[in-house]
Amino acid sequence: MTESTPSIHTPVLLHEVVEGLGTPRVYLDGTLGGAGHMLAIAQHAKGKLTVIGLDRDPAAIKRARALLEGKAEQVILEHTDFRNLDLALDAHSIKEVDAILLDLGISSDELDASGKGFSFLRDEPLFMTMGNPTEQTFTAKDIVNTWEEETIADVIFGYGEERYARRIARNIVNYRAKKLIETTFELGEIIKMSVPGMYRHGKIHPATRTFQALRIAVNDELGALKSGLSKGYERLASGGRMAVISFHSLEDRIVKDFNKARVAEGATITTKKPITASPEERAVNPRSRSAKLRILVKP
Ligand SMILES: C[S@@+](CC[C@H](N)C(=O)[O-])C[C@H]1O[C@@H](n2cnc3c(N)ncnc32)[C@H](O)[C@@H]1O
Repeated sequence: MTESTPSIHTPVLLHEVVEGLGTPRVYLDGTLGGAGHMLAIAQHAKGKLTVIGLDRDPAAIKRARALLEGKAEQVILEHTDFRNLDLALDAHSIKEVDAILLDLGISSDELDASGKGFSFLRDEPLFMTMGNPTEQTFTAKDIVNTWEEETIADVIFGYGEERYARRIARNIVNYRAKKLIETTFELGEIIKMSVPGMYRHGKIHPATRTFQALRIAVNDELGALKSGLSKGYERLASGGRMAVISFHSLEDRIVKDFNKARVAEGATITTKKPITASPEERAVNPRSRSAKLRILVKP
């Protein structure tokens, strides 16, 4: 896949996000991806807005440029982590924004077509970085080949909530004593032989949780989220809204706790329970099944 290929990502909870964020004058999308949400929000505001899109993946930024041209009064796209959103806004002299969206994790473009090893269904090098990997980049290959067994187990258990984390870590270390672990298929096989037969044929692929854990660790996703939430809220105008879509309990807990603390200071939330996908959306987009949307309104 190249930057000129259209995005294959289907935005989740699209209608709910557009309805929840209304018609902002200045909209910041910290996770631009295939720009599906941004485009819908720009169209909803009839192009009368400034949009700022950030992404850690340079391919997403390049792909979105042509798509967004002329869709807003000002289109600013930056290849950066949303934990640096303050710097991105400063660089364009934007003090405040009316709406923010963080749609967490990776896009289908990254999962299915980046060649960076996010999916256990494709045989690829074990990078798992959202940015473009270079010789110096920290990757999943570094974790499985150099970290201590106990630390690997802690990552897989802590970020993947994988109950066979210790067995998987043990087998990773045994395997690498003979040969470096270089590809997704090699890691997938190690995981498969670490879990009981029943689990191998369960509802989710046995490698799902371990791959999620490694991806979170490689990209420090939870650290980025905490930092992005604080910085985003700081730059939100009074009455501004910050929407976050999370895909697993670790992320959702961070968002829920952050919102709760702001509510204690006078902010409001639009719904007590997170918004989830309708049965219709779940049926056509399996990715939406674990999505939870929470919206915070600044006083
Ligand atoms: C789920 S996709 C977003 C899809 C997008 N909302 C759309 O409608 O197409 C998440 C995107 O956020 C990016 N991303 C994840 N964490 C990030 C971070 N900390 N900073 C910047 N971009 C990030 C990923 O590279 C990916 O492109």
